[in-house]
Amino acid sequence: MKDLTFSVNPDVCVGCGLCAQDCPSRLLTLPSEGVPSVIPGREDQCIECQHCFAVCPPGALSIFGLNPEDSQPFDYSGLPTPANMRALVRGRRSTRQYLAQNVSPAVLEDLLEDLQYAPTGQNLRFLEYLVVDNLEAMDLLREKSIALAEKALGNGLDSPFIKGMVKIYRRDKVDLLYRGAPHLLVISAPAKKQSSPQQDIALALAYFELLAACRGLGTCWCGYINEVEAVVPGLRELLGLKEGDNFYSVLFGLPKVKYRRLVHREGTAKIRRFG
Ligand SMILES: Cc1cc2nc3c(=O)[nH]c(=O)nc-3n(C[C@H](O)[C@H](O)[C@H](O)COP(=O)(O)O)c2cc1C
Repeated sequence: MKDLTFSVNPDVCVGCGLCAQDCPSRLLTLPSEGVPSVIPGREDQCIECQHCFAVCPPGALSIFGLNPEDSQPFDYSGLPTPANMRALVRGRRSTRQYLAQNVSPAVLEDLLEDLQYAPTGQNLRFLEYLVVDNLEAMDLLREKSIALAEKALGNGLDSPFIKGMVKIYRRDKVDLLYRGAPHLLVISAPAKKQSSPQQDIALALAYFELLAACRGLGTCWCGYINEVEAVVPGLRELLGLKEGDNFYSVLFGLPKVKYRRLVHREGTAKIRRFG
């Protein structure tokens, strides 16, 4: 049985019942006298979302030994304005030209910390993050990836896309695969552990992209890696991924270009309404 280390301070609890109402698994019971408690035998259904802890107005409740007093109060007035969010969502672009400069390790750490707040199906937390955190490591990955592609072509791989990619890299030093980026983040989900691996990975990447944009960084999702990995032996191992792991990636770094105006997407979405 899961150990929830659940407790409520009776001197602080106001008996409002918000913790019980907000629990997605309906695990808590609030007696007419006394404080909320976990319904015996239901512990394993806890998805560890900490909503009971976060919603408690006076900070009377502790779960997993967490102390409300050690937690950051949440201030709704600190949220970005709709205009700020709109500028971010509409103005973010995929960056394919980067400065040959490392992103500061402190910024990188902050971004990775923030990523842990991205939601996942059933709040399962098995995503793994591979970070290529400097130019030298990225150059090594680039060279090794191209060498693996060359080997596969030498062994009879028939792929005009990969052939072209290798040729342009060797002849013109243009990196179509990793877009010359100084960094890469690969997010993976171990086989069969996440309940919605593709959605969870995509969501974390989307969060990363927006967080990075607010730090002045450029990003570009890299679906090409998956296309190459599907036919080039050794790339999965090079990225430290196991057979069956889901993964997707984003390139990032300081951008060499600035976009001066928004693109036009008006009318591109087909919107249907029910009822
Ligand atoms: C799932 C996904 C995979 C992508 N893969 C690549 C890629 O491998 N290489 C690349 O240059 N751009 C890639 N992109 C970027 C798209 O081409 C880009 O989002 C699209 O052209 C729109 O441009 P914008 O992001 O600037 O609005 C990918 C985007 C998504 C969402």
